[in-house]
Amino acid sequence: MADVYLDNAATTYPKPESVFRAMDRFAREVGGNPGRSGHHRALESGREVLRSREALSLLFRVDDPSRIVFTKNATEALNLVIRGRLLEGGHAVITSLEHNSVWRPLEALSRRGNVSYTILRCSPDGGLDPAELRAAINSETRLVACTHASNVTGTLLPLSEIAEVAAERGVPLLVDAAQTAGRVEIYPQEMGIAYLAFTGHKELFGPQGTGGLYIAPGWEFEPLTYGGTGSRSESSLQPDFLPDRYESGTLNAHGLAGLRAGVEYILETGVAKIREHERELTERLLEGLARIPGVIIYGPTEWERRVGIISFNLGDYTSSELASILDERYGVCVRSGLHCSPLAHRTLGTLKRGTVRASLSRMNTEEEVEYFLHALAEVSRQKP
Ligand SMILES: Cc1ncc(COP(=O)(O)O)c(C=O)c1O
Repeated sequence: MADVYLDNAATTYPKPESVFRAMDRFAREVGGNPGRSGHHRALESGREVLRSREALSLLFRVDDPSRIVFTKNATEALNLVIRGRLLEGGHAVITSLEHNSVWRPLEALSRRGNVSYTILRCSPDGGLDPAELRAAINSETRLVACTHASNVTGTLLPLSEIAEVAAERGVPLLVDAAQTAGRVEIYPQEMGIAYLAFTGHKELFGPQGTGGLYIAPGWEFEPLTYGGTGSRSESSLQPDFLPDRYESGTLNAHGLAGLRAGVEYILETGVAKIREHERELTERLLEGLARIPGVIIYGPTEWERRVGIISFNLGDYTSSELASILDERYGVCVRSGLHCSPLAHRTLGTLKRGTVRASLSRMNTEEEVEYFLHALAEVSRQKP
């Protein structure tokens, strides 16, 4: 049976060979704790972490690599900002396409009392009216948070318009780039983004357990975790400089070695080329899906407004039934259900049923897309 992986929005697979090699090298040949001891293994480990920070700062065009702090994933990066900015209470604005990693921390804070938030309603295809954002911001607003692309429909949100309104009102913008870092150009310094949260294991091709946050100058906040940083050890106070302020405890240096290789792969290939490849596959997939009787596709059709994440349903199949059939009979990995984003499903009107999600990466081929379409067409001819 074939083995076709179309669940890259959950995590990319496979990774470039260089990622496997970098992690293997780190584990076998380096092995020291970054920033802790003074011996050669610790120093090389520290250099490896620095190279990863530098590769990311090149990708995001950030002048100062120390403004990129490492976390274990995008969720941790998002929590860091949300909880740090709202430590003393206040109001936040989010969109109706957010992932639970934005919604849940805000909801948890709001249940404790002095935090409130507004959810801006997007249209089912991801449209958002900047005037509504302007109206939602009040004197208590301490944060605007929005996803760059929906993990359900692949819809790109109008970031520059959102950034413009947030800047006009003097409120920092937090962008959740979990689904776009590595596949869409995003430059926080140039785009007026105060915080850019990213994950390492999706389109940056790093391993799971890696991620991070860019923090713009002037927008620092209280950290979530305090402890050993390998710096200013004589003091009981957390260092106030970046990245140490936010990086207590031993980093995932094995993972960051892999993340560096993943980011270098993207830099060598070029984000524009990656996006072009994804465009070809996505258009083929969308056209093919539209020809299969009984298929409903969610999200925009124009490439400029989306990435290669495609949600759909077929006939009377539940999304989990269909995903199981594709896996068990055809060896195709897709995801079903709510994809940790009930807000997006409420926006689409699919909260009860969920969707089947096929998500592409640079590693997918035209043959795999054709195979998937062929499998789905065969299923559509059978009864649920
Ligand atoms: C839009 C979005 N935000 C945040 C996350 C959380 O990423 P992670 O699981 O790496 O923390 C995801 C993961 O699917 C996502 O799609």
